[in-house]
Amino acid sequence: MMKSSAHLMRAMRNISKSLNYKNKRFYGAASQGDHIFRQLFDIRTFTYTYLIADKTSKDAVLIDPVLEQTDRDESILKQLGLNLIYAINTHVHADHVTGSGELKKRFRNCQSVISKASNAKADIHLENLNSLPFGSTALEARNTPGHTNGCMTFVWHDGEMAFTGDALLIRGCGRTDFQEGNSETLYNSVHSQILSLPKNWLLYPGHDYTGQSVTTVEEELINNPRLRQPIKDFVKFMEELKLPYPREIERALPLNMVCGLQ
Ligand SMILES: [Fe+2]
Repeated sequence: MMKSSAHLMRAMRNISKSLNYKNKRFYGAASQGDHIFRQLFDIRTFTYTYLIADKTSKDAVLIDPVLEQTDRDESILKQLGLNLIYAINTHVHADHVTGSGELKKRFRNCQSVISKASNAKADIHLENLNSLPFGSTALEARNTPGHTNGCMTFVWHDGEMAFTGDALLIRGCGRTDFQEGNSETLYNSVHSQILSLPKNWLLYPGHDYTGQSVTTVEEELINNPRLRQPIKDFVKFMEELKLPYPREIERALPLNMVCGLQ
């Protein structure tokens, strides 16, 4: 009896540790502490969309919504009683059309957000280190060019995590062979703005093609086969990538310059 109750106590301690509740850490889907966090996936384009909300004010943001998933996003927001105030794009996407314009039609308080450097149409244009407040929390916008000129990474300090768009992918990175891509710039952006965050912080990418959902700064410093190399090797590796042209680029690029709406 003594042994089984000690075993139970130990198991409960382990569960509480894995939830990391005190540190407000979040994984694939969580509703903890003061915030709600969801990682959503578009299976057609392998795109992640992130929902973060303040439980008290009900203010919510979506990062990188996909046009074809607008019904899903609307349902979740409404079911959770949330007020969408920002539809944010990490950059002008070439592989899918953004849902930000359609979301604005359905949520009247919603404003579209993208970097000033993207030259795309939006209600709010962010510059480096601008803060995007919602409820009692905020996202910090960091310029991370290289995949495109206008790429931004959004650092959520309260959640101890960052949303890297296509600058950093799990064990990879965004391509640099079109949309003003530059591999040297990308290398410097990722190392100075993302991999300089605390080692235990979580990194959530814009896509994943291998079934993974999240990584950490430390994991990528050690295991990212591209970015752990010296810069000259990284540049050579990126030059030698022979990637197919994105299937939807002709449709996606012009639409994404205007919030995904014609
Ligand atoms: Fe991209």
